[in-house]
Amino acid sequence: AEYDLLVLNGLVVTDSETGEFDIAVKDGKIAKVVPRGSLAGEKSKKTIDAQGGMVMPGGVDAHVHLDEPPLFGKSATADNYETGTRSAIAGGTTTVITFAPQHKSEPSLLACLEATHARAKDNCYSDYSFHLICSNAGPKAISEFAALREAGISSLKIYMTYEALQLQDSEILDVLFEARKQKIVTMVHAENGAIIDWTIKRLEEKKLFAPKYHATSHPPVAEIEATYRAISFSGFIDVPILIVHVSSPAAAKHISDAQKKGLPVYAETCPQYLFLTRKDLDQPGFEGAKCVCSPPPREGEQDHEGIWRGLEDGTFTVLSSDHCPFIYDDPEKGKKIVITPEYPNGHFRYIPNGCPGVETRLSLALSANRLKLQKFVEVTSTNAAKLYGLYPKKGALIPGESDADLTIWYPEGMKEFVLKNEMLHHNVDYTPYEGRTMKQWPRYTVLRGEVVWDKDNGGLVGKKGYGQFLKRDVSTLAGSKKAEWNVEDF
Ligand code: URP
Ligand code: ZN
Ligand code: ZN
Ligand code: ZN
Repeated sequence: AEYDLLVLNGLVVTDSETGEFDIAVKDGKIAKVVPRGSLAGEKSKKTIDAQGGMVMPGGVDAHVHLDEPPLFGKSATADNYETGTRSAIAGGTTTVITFAPQHKSEPSLLACLEATHARAKDNCYSDYSFHLICSNAGPKAISEFAALREAGISSLKIYMTYEALQLQDSEILDVLFEARKQKIVTMVHAENGAIIDWTIKRLEEKKLFAPKYHATSHPPVAEIEATYRAISFSGFIDVPILIVHVSSPAAAKHISDAQKKGLPVYAETCPQYLFLTRKDLDQPGFEGAKCVCSPPPREGEQDHEGIWRGLEDGTFTVLSSDHCPFIYDDPEKGKKIVITPEYPNGHFRYIPNGCPGVETRLSLALSANRLKLQKFVEVTSTNAAKLYGLYPKKGALIPGESDADLTIWYPEGMKEFVLKNEMLHHNVDYTPYEGRTMKQWPRYTVLRGEVVWDKDNGGLVGKKGYGQFLKRDVSTLAGSKKAEWNVEDF
């Protein structure tokens, strides 16, 4: 047989195994993973010598906002499907799960799904799927959950804050109850909207408007309370949830306590909670606006340590980017600094929430050299594929089953470098990680057997439109674990 691609002499690392294996690829799939040297003499259209390198399943980033209309502030997200997925593959991520947002004025989720398909189609460099954001949980939306499953969507995101998106507790129960029936995983943005509104009002009365007050206005208690409430609802309805973008170790403690009780509660964290602090919001002028996201970066090293420990001990299932990019300094396109006539010097409340990070997620985490390599693969690729119904097509290197999606690193040949925004492929004029010393960057990204990123030889060599929509199945990780009582009564 002639193969399409051989990857020889590398150290192969998956979530469950590390070893010196050679990989053969045929028709976009992993054909063989065999001990080093076993493929000697085999013919192939292309060969990568990964001597001295590490070969991992391609990154799966399950929390990416692309081409979203203004929902959280006054600006639309800066990256569309073209620029966002281009940025993904340049950073070693071969699959993104983005959001199909629903406005409160739109009763139908299926209509939002269709609109999002139109934005993504023929524009993607990476493979992709969508989570539906449910902000109008009326009878129409709830009645469509079964059809969503048919359409290959097995997850939703709901919000406990933001006026434009927030669901009331009774609506959250409606969503969770139907999600249980349809085996849908519900992602929860857990912050208490009332606490945030209250703190914003107080700060405004004192005329405190600088970006750093974004952190003051989103105190840990808002996250801790909402996390515990979401966990309580999950236990009551007996349905899996995933708490997204957890920033607070105290919220993580509620999550690990729930997991110890056997509740199907999963959690996500993001690089901004490992590498940024509220001091990054406290910079001269509006520079701090660059790091405004929700929940905000927390106090300091102790919080970072708590979050790293949660990744190590399994409290966190996934490390996603929450890539939610806004241009910092372009008055035409919608600025990250929103200056209004009323607030000529800006106001933290109007700074759109979110930071870019789809391209830097893997390199930041690997450069930190903190997680064991298999754990790194588990939280950045395999678990996202399992949780969201893409496994073992994605997140694994199983012959005959997995797509040939690979990220290849050369840790020894790699010279440390200083990260600059101009190196990145997103459509954003800054990175919160400007000036950081990076020890790692992917040398190759391979998507379904095609080299799409070749750092030293052409850089971005993938083609727009090569990325495919992925129909997803039920989660293989999340299931109801223990009914606290007979939920069928309802
Ligand atoms: O600040 C954030 N996280 N922006 C993105 C929207 C969200 O809530 O995930
Ligand atoms: Zn969120
Ligand atoms: Zn730190
Ligand atoms: Zn987000």
